[in-house]
Amino acid sequence: MYAHSQMTAAKTRGIAAARRCQRTNSSGRSARFNSSVKCAAGPSYKELLAVAEEAARAGAAIVQDAVDKPRNISSKSTSTDLVTETDLASEAAILAVLRKHFPTHAILGEEGGVTGDTNSEYLWCVDPLDGTTNFAHGYPSFAVLVACCKHATPVASTVVEFGGGPGTWVQRVYSASRNGGATMNGAPISVSGTRELVQSLVTTGFGYDHDAAWMANMGLFQTFTDVTRGVRRLGSAGVDMCHVACGLTEAYWEPKLKPWDQAAGALVVEEAGGTVTTMDGRAFSVFDRSVLVSNTHLHQQLLDIIEPVTTDLVVNKGADLTPFKVGTTVEGQDRTRTL
Ligand code: IPD
Ligand code: CA
Ligand code: CA
Repeated sequence: MYAHSQMTAAKTRGIAAARRCQRTNSSGRSARFNSSVKCAAGPSYKELLAVAEEAARAGAAIVQDAVDKPRNISSKSTSTDLVTETDLASEAAILAVLRKHFPTHAILGEEGGVTGDTNSEYLWCVDPLDGTTNFAHGYPSFAVLVACCKHATPVASTVVEFGGGPGTWVQRVYSASRNGGATMNGAPISVSGTRELVQSLVTTGFGYDHDAAWMANMGLFQTFTDVTRGVRRLGSAGVDMCHVACGLTEAYWEPKLKPWDQAAGALVVEEAGGTVTTMDGRAFSVFDRSVLVSNTHLHQQLLDIIEPVTTDLVVNKGADLTPFKVGTTVEGQDRTRTL
């Protein structure tokens, strides 16, 4: 473990920490407290999931409508960090649903930043189109990701995966609520039972910054190519995680994802019996800047390789994996919101 101070920071990050709820009762219903005032119970996780599904399906309808049409593509933080009109339209459709049901909840959208009541204990993380590069090329896979977090913990989420290809797109809808299990198209899913790395298929991803973390992950790609059946690089973090959840693959890791990339898929994996930690083996929160998900059986074997590389990155190579701060400028873009 490389940084005790990171763990301390992890405990204090996020929105409205001083007002956060301290308790969740056994029915899955939550009660909100600040230092002295007791507040009304919130929605159940199942109620939150119904809204997550409605919102994700609204975004997916926009993506489906656009998927075989010409795209208007622009770039964001780097020339390879793309955004299309569909990303923006999908986010607008998702936010309209969330606002209709929960006008005061905070929302962190990839394209629009933070909106809503920043004192809310609920934070919705929205990636309106995960895998934009694939979408721009008509190449599977890409997805719509919607997660409701209570503080830094996802409690309800939906991922709509687009597979297939031009003219033959198919959607898979993954959903999960905390302690309520995970489903794909309504049927329960679970992780694979594979216990040997040499029998596993794993995935990873690479961000748009070609920095020390990106370079180190190139090394991990090589290492795991040698000790597994293969490493795939699909191009959608949400889909990668859901493929672990339904047993298609055994593991996925990536440094420097954002809350909207990882919140929805992480809950689906956990509820399918998988394990989610940071790449150096700490308990995961959606604000963390590295993630390792697995079928649980292989988690320690994966960490034995990934943890030392991650520690070396921070201690010796100056990589900044400190938690994402909601309300700060996102990689040079004007998305600043003050919480
Ligand atoms: C990206 C995808 C990709 C991952 C990148 C993400 P975007 O999200 O999830 O698989 O490797 O790190 O940024 O930009 O397509 O929404
Ligand atoms: Ca994404
Ligand atoms: Ca996106």
